[in-house]
Amino acid sequence: MDKAAVFICLIAFTFINVDAWNTKPFPKDFKFGVATASYQIEGAWNEDGKGENIWDHLCHHGPFVVEHNQTGDIACDSYHKYKEDVAMLKDLGVSHYRFSISWSRLLPTGFADKVNKAGVQYYKNLIKELKANGIEPLVTLYHWDLPQPLQVLGGFLNDNFVDWFGDYAQLCFDLFGDDVSNWLTFNEPISICQQGYGNGRKAPLITSPGIGEYICGKTMMIAHARAWHIYDKEYRSKQKGSVGFVVDSSWYEPNSNKTADIEASEMKLQFVWGMYINPLINGDHSSILKKQIAKRSKQQGFKRSRLPEFTKEEQKYLKGTLDIIGLNHYSTSMVSAQKNPDPDAMGFYVDCEVNEWQADDWEKSGSDWLRVVPWGIRKLLKWIKVNFNNTKILITENGYSDNGEKDLKDDRRIHYVKSYLSNIRDAMDKDGVNVVGYTLWSLMDNFEWNRGYTEKFGLYHVDFNSRNRTRTKKKSADFYKKVIATRCLADKCAA
Ligand code: BGC
Repeated sequence: MDKAAVFICLIAFTFINVDAWNTKPFPKDFKFGVATASYQIEGAWNEDGKGENIWDHLCHHGPFVVEHNQTGDIACDSYHKYKEDVAMLKDLGVSHYRFSISWSRLLPTGFADKVNKAGVQYYKNLIKELKANGIEPLVTLYHWDLPQPLQVLGGFLNDNFVDWFGDYAQLCFDLFGDDVSNWLTFNEPISICQQGYGNGRKAPLITSPGIGEYICGKTMMIAHARAWHIYDKEYRSKQKGSVGFVVDSSWYEPNSNKTADIEASEMKLQFVWGMYINPLINGDHSSILKKQIAKRSKQQGFKRSRLPEFTKEEQKYLKGTLDIIGLNHYSTSMVSAQKNPDPDAMGFYVDCEVNEWQADDWEKSGSDWLRVVPWGIRKLLKWIKVNFNNTKILITENGYSDNGEKDLKDDRRIHYVKSYLSNIRDAMDKDGVNVVGYTLWSLMDNFEWNRGYTEKFGLYHVDFNSRNRTRTKKKSADFYKKVIATRCLADKCAA
């Protein structure tokens, strides 16, 4: 190529590149953070009085559904190494750190009668260290690790769960609320109910599609409302914080412009949002969702809908109990209407009568469910805005996995984060969506549930073969650090 041609190519490349990213700086008060969860990082599973939880139980006693029978017994050993974690956070320059409290570290039996002092001290120390370094704690109360004694009593299928969770939440507000302003009750209802009580993929591995999973959902909604009301009545005026709930949602792209496919997309979104967010904002499941499950339940000979109704009283109790929507978003699916839905099938994934798949040409990651589809997040954010009166949204998780090899030059992760952030900026800028912050999953490689240590999402590599659990910075950490410092995605930011 001659010099002129090289020059033209360079100009073209620069132009395309600049054009592809939204280079407008994020607002000054926009928050950038990272996330983790207790079972995935803490380790010390039986130290200092901690009780057993459902993931301890599953990993130790089976059925062995985790890759290579790996466990979170030690994980990143953050119980002992939290100061190192905070030093990494400080270096990144994050405004907030999302972590979760292990219920059974605080309350070994699950009940509020015996509080484990060492557990309280651990979280106090962590929060103190964060505050001393100018980092806001964002605390999830429940990230999947239910105390095992509560599971023995049925877990989310026992109505008393609402009291158990309320007591636990209240204890957390009491103990830590002077230093923690922002709380999230439950992380990912679909992972908890659909996969824990529906298709039996995650702890406690209960298989009750279309029945147990919907009972679980109802209990969870009311338990959230219980915590919100406790906070609202007893803590809000003093602590001035917020209580949110975290939904996991993909974007569901209609396969064509045909009405049936567009309706399929809406139906799928209603299964996610109409089941979990609608009750907290409007007091009830969405009508599309109720009608659909009632129709199928009737066809199947049930006397009433398999989706348990909320009583009038419960509706009142639920309505308006969401201060902020937490969104975990990783990927997108294509959807179409099922031509011949199986009339006998039951469960969240089939009651909607929607086909779902990912396009072959979408870039892969280290997880079979995670394809890189950055435009999906913008469409989803816009849909949420329109459907929920522009409620505040905090992105509580978004991130990219690799296949567990030590890869410190993780350019694909950088590309993912950059392109998703660009679409988030577009959603704010061009569609007026009220996004107040972004939380990247995850601070460091950790125990990836059923995939054990075979899939990694971290900005920091963790050596799980070393006793030290040595943490090493990846290239993506420096990339994210720069984004946080400049609040923008380009070398030169637009004004
Ligand atoms: C969960 C995390 C998990 C991540 C990646 C989310 O579903 O909240 O605990 O590690 O996705 O799979």
